[in-house]
Amino acid sequence: MKILLLGKNGQVGWELQRSLVPLGHVLALDSKSTDYCGDLQDLNGLAATVQRFAPDVIVNAAAYTAVDKAESEPEQAMRVNAEAVAVLASEAKKLGSLLVHYSTDYVFAGDGQQPWCEDDSVAPLNQYGASKLAGEQAIQASGCQHVILRTSWVYAARGNNFAKTMLRLARERDSLSVIADQFGAPTGAELLADVSAHVIRSTLKQPQLSGLYHLAASGDTNWHAYARFVLEHAQAAGVDLKVPSGLVAAIPSSAYPTPAKRPNNSRLNTQKLQKAFALSLPAWQIGVARMLTEILEK
Ligand SMILES: NC(=O)c1ccc[n+]([C@@H]2O[C@H](COP(=O)([O-])OP(=O)(O)OC[C@H]3O[C@@H](n4cnc5c(N)ncnc54)[C@H](OP(=O)(O)O)[C@@H]3O)[C@@H](O)[C@H]2O)c1
Repeated sequence: MKILLLGKNGQVGWELQRSLVPLGHVLALDSKSTDYCGDLQDLNGLAATVQRFAPDVIVNAAAYTAVDKAESEPEQAMRVNAEAVAVLASEAKKLGSLLVHYSTDYVFAGDGQQPWCEDDSVAPLNQYGASKLAGEQAIQASGCQHVILRTSWVYAARGNNFAKTMLRLARERDSLSVIADQFGAPTGAELLADVSAHVIRSTLKQPQLSGLYHLAASGDTNWHAYARFVLEHAQAAGVDLKVPSGLVAAIPSSAYPTPAKRPNNSRLNTQKLQKAFALSLPAWQIGVARMLTEILEK
């Protein structure tokens, strides 16, 4: 089986390089790849890549993910997150390939407290969310075989992440304030990649599993409680902090204005995915604790 992976060096793309390997021959590209075009800004190059490699499965982990910057660059966000995705979907349809794509809870308005279901009404609050929604709609309109996985609050041990930032700030600063009115589930890139591999195998055997699913770790938290969880772990591991977990201040989003408005309720209901693919998604604390162990051991 031939698998085309786009966005190989992102948080999720990096983990997919590992999890997809047992499934077949993986061609992994990023925007700077030379043999094949992996740049989602280059729509003709992208189409040529799919036609030449003729993959059985396309996994698109590339995205314009700079949420605040997208407010001033909506065309670039739309090109990568929607127009390029439309090209992938159209080429997948011609080849009869399966397209696996990632989307976000930012397609929702973020009101209320209930976890969002797949068929709830969408109403993105920012340009990034609008571009990701347009990408989903392009895939659905193409008629290609697809799996769209909406997720939230993605982290990975590699590169920068929220936990590393909190650890650094709690060591350096005299005080620390973190938003306490946005709720979601921190979801590890490892979990996303492992579940994706399982979903691909199952969907190739049972094409009727194609569709839109929510995929996030179980449970929920807010950024303030997440920060405290991280610092508690660090303290337990003997890290010396200027701001201990108990002294992190809780603030409302209104005290931390950003160019892009963010949803307060990022909770995702994952029952559809767990049932369809016979999976059990772990509590968010399990993956975060594992990532912290990796970071703190270094
Ligand atoms: N991060 C989150 O919290 C979150 C939440 C919900 C959903 N998602 C979705 O999950 C998926 C994976 O996200 P992630 O967290 O892994 O994002 P990420 O770490 O920001 O990775 C995105 C990747 O896309 C690449 N990319 C950007 N523009 C490109 C272009 N024109 N051509 C080719 N590659 C390009 C980036 O490469 P460069 O760095 O070289 O530009 C980067 O490697 C995305 O669809 C995202 O929308 C993420």
